[in-house]
Amino acid sequence: MTHPVIDALLVALTADPANHAVRAHVARLLTEAGRPEEALTHATAVLAAVPDHVEALRIAADAARTLGDDPKAASYARLADALDPMDPPVAPAGTTAATASAGTAPTPVPAPADAPHGAAAAIPDTADEILEQWSDSEPVAEPALGTLGQAGVTLADVGGLASVKKRLDQSFLTPLRNPELSREFGKSLRGGLLLWGPPGCGKTFIARALAGELGASFYEIGLSDVLDMWIGSSERNLRSIFETARRNRPCVLFFDEMDALGQKRSNLRAGGSAMRGVVNQMLSELDGASTENDGLFVLGASNHPWDIDSALLRPGRFDRTVLVLPPDVESRESILRLHLRGRPTERLDLVKVARATDGMSGADLALVCEQATESAMEESMASGRVVPITQRHLQEAAKSVRPSIGEWMETAKNYAMYGNEAGAYDELAAYLKKRRR
Ligand SMILES: Nc1ncnc2c1ncn2[C@@H]1O[C@H](COP(=O)(O)OP(=O)(O)OP(=O)(O)O)[C@@H](O)[C@H]1O
Ligand SMILES: [Mg+2]
Repeated sequence: MTHPVIDALLVALTADPANHAVRAHVARLLTEAGRPEEALTHATAVLAAVPDHVEALRIAADAARTLGDDPKAASYARLADALDPMDPPVAPAGTTAATASAGTAPTPVPAPADAPHGAAAAIPDTADEILEQWSDSEPVAEPALGTLGQAGVTLADVGGLASVKKRLDQSFLTPLRNPELSREFGKSLRGGLLLWGPPGCGKTFIARALAGELGASFYEIGLSDVLDMWIGSSERNLRSIFETARRNRPCVLFFDEMDALGQKRSNLRAGGSAMRGVVNQMLSELDGASTENDGLFVLGASNHPWDIDSALLRPGRFDRTVLVLPPDVESRESILRLHLRGRPTERLDLVKVARATDGMSGADLALVCEQATESAMEESMASGRVVPITQRHLQEAAKSVRPSIGEWMETAKNYAMYGNEAGAYDELAAYLKKRRR
């Protein structure tokens, strides 16, 4: 049986074979037209290029089931569910018809390539419409793993931390802005940068701000999610993450919880060898051909750098490390100022609050500002007029918030004292020594 839309799309595909969104749609139409064998061929072609394409996985599952291959169907479905556990239910029949008959409905928005198949209700049904809407569908809206978007902040939004900013400028931003000069001096632009330090002191915030500085998109991955999802497929997940990042260049690819690449080794059922594979995959992605990684900036963050596989810290990999320590008194003042920005306040002596919050992280300081704001709002509501945030509100909040990094410092101290063979923790040791004074 011929089907004009399918035929037109198949012709379009011969001209643009890499258009996975159209191929997935053809596969769906083929399933619906009772041609499961062809549907499966197209779905697997999409999966060969984009292994985590949820829509293609679902189609492949349906097609395999129709063809009577239940084990295969189940394994496709399992992968799809693991990638996309919250697949929204398909809109009840009649919803689309009702919208369409209203006559005023806007042109339906095309489903992004990776949209779960519940979104198929919005797909237009003439070939021209489909091709037009997908013609420049380059950056995929939402990847199957992690979150991708614009950074929205720059280093100017990061309070204080002058020495960290200087390090980042020297080791990351300046070489990137002057690639010619860096090559002259033989300074490699390859590899990644690892931010490490106690929780809540701004690692994630800084990574995001670096993306903002570079005008790059920010793609954030919680590494433990990638590893936990299902052992053995982590390598594939990593590969598809790097592919998504490359498709969205310029892109800062940010791996949070880098320590998951060491720490989990003992917890894994499959033992060290499984983790070895993941580390190797990470290494080969980082070592990828130079043009392939142009415009791709890989950052990592960790609270426990001592747990990271040392192979990842060698030259050309995550070889630049920046320690992000708790903010000093000047930094605390600017962090407080940033977090009070745009809120009604009386004249405040923030230096005084900064002095009273020694040992607090940026996140703790954000909480202090939050609590002071809440108190002022409560008073405003009780009195029926705007009560600005006062010095008293802030000082009381500062007293009630407990610094959250004590425990980290205790652990870190052991590594600085007993595990500092290669001098990796010199900076931390110096900091601890100064504090103990
Ligand atoms: N230097 C800073 N300037 C302004 N805000 C900051 C700063 N440092 C931390 N913060 C605030 O604290 C919050 C937590 O910081 P962030 O998430 O970057 O910490 P982290 O080091 O990544 O912590 P974790 O190790 O727990 O992931 C930020 O969202 C921000 O509101
Ligand atoms: Mg973080």
